[in-house]
Amino acid sequence: MNFPSSPIRIEWPDATCELHTGSLAQIVEGEHLLAVIPASTTSLVLLRDAAVPAALLAPIRSFMAGRVPLKEFEVAGGESCKTPQGWFSILEILAQSKLDRGGLVIVAGGGALGDAAGFAASVWHRGVPWIAIPTTLLAMVDAHVGGKTAIHHSGIKNRIGSFHLPRAVLADPTMLDSLPLQQRSQGWAELIKAAWIGAPDLLEELESQPRSIPEDLIPAPHQIAAAVAVKVGLVEEDPFEVGRREHLNLGHTLAHALEMNTTPQLLHGEAVSLGMVFAATLAEQLSIAVPGTATRISDLLQRVGLPVDWSDFPIEPIMSSLLDDKKVRAGRQRWVLPRKPGDIVVEEISDQVVEQVFRSSPPRATVNPVAPERSHDAR
Ligand SMILES: NC(=O)c1ccc[n+]([C@@H]2O[C@H](COP(=O)([O-])OP(=O)(O)OC[C@H]3O[C@@H](n4cnc5c(N)ncnc54)[C@H](O)[C@@H]3O)[C@@H](O)[C@H]2O)c1
Repeated sequence: MNFPSSPIRIEWPDATCELHTGSLAQIVEGEHLLAVIPASTTSLVLLRDAAVPAALLAPIRSFMAGRVPLKEFEVAGGESCKTPQGWFSILEILAQSKLDRGGLVIVAGGGALGDAAGFAASVWHRGVPWIAIPTTLLAMVDAHVGGKTAIHHSGIKNRIGSFHLPRAVLADPTMLDSLPLQQRSQGWAELIKAAWIGAPDLLEELESQPRSIPEDLIPAPHQIAAAVAVKVGLVEEDPFEVGRREHLNLGHTLAHALEMNTTPQLLHGEAVSLGMVFAATLAEQLSIAVPGTATRISDLLQRVGLPVDWSDFPIEPIMSSLLDDKKVRAGRQRWVLPRKPGDIVVEEISDQVVEQVFRSSPPRATVNPVAPERSHDAR
């Protein structure tokens, strides 16, 4: 597939979103950006995560010059922009720029800034359109896809939010050049999750081709697009998370408990990585998955430098957080489990079984997992 390729589309009754993967310059020159900006738009506000080099947004500035007035602001990204204060300062920027009902917000940032600024757009003048330019891998394959926006409140994550689909998501892998390697690996947790949930070709490529995971951990555009397509498929089918969209929570049950009980807090992708291997081990224990499933997932996650061994984490507080989880019903927790690639199930499992698996050893690595640095690719 050539990139930029045809966009993937999300079509809801009252909103649509075009998701492009490829060079921002080419996407913009191809007039794809213009196509998603309503003709009635009077002004644009570009909010750029302060960690993202300004030069990367040059194609947007030059294309918009002489078309629609654009004002640009730098905003501190990361979780601080999802506090009520951080969010309020984004509203202040919209006020300062005099963005009216004919305005549109472009957000270039990670998942945190996308969540906060997307939420701001959803309530500004009762809702103005927005366009997302994800600048982390996690935002490209997950956070900016699907229209969920949120901020934190009184220590509770994502307590206040809305569904507000961006008109477009423009994912350019070169945005990841400045992203630290550890942050890139966080996105791989979601990319590998997507491959398991519904991208068999991507999974096969990752598992069988030694160079399929590049050493710089910047995926190829087709790999990003394949992961995006998995999320889009589930989001289209189940926009408001009442059915199969729950499969996207593979690995997230344990991940949330780990995030709550680690200091310094595990990064999200690290927690999801542990959670996916744990869910697969549970699935094996219950004969839902064939033996070897957890090792298979674990091997892939280790290749991108993610943790897979939960044995050093304290069991009591983690079990207690799991039992407090809103998904617990009468001492049985709902777990999203991999049966086999492309076949995910949701099961209620007793906390005794969960604890038993937590006390057991994580799966061992296979003798020779395919790893870029160890491979002898003949090409
Ligand atoms: N809305 C959803 O459906 C959804 C889904 C998953 C996650 N999320 C949210 O996404 C957030 C996590 O997103 P994230 O992992 O992208 O983290 P992030 O947005 O916090 O970004 C991580 C760090 O990288 C910096 N950064 C961003 N782009 C950069 C770049 N190109 N170069 C250098 N630094 C850069 C940021 O400033 C920040 O310090 C969480 O708040 C989570 O709740 C939302």
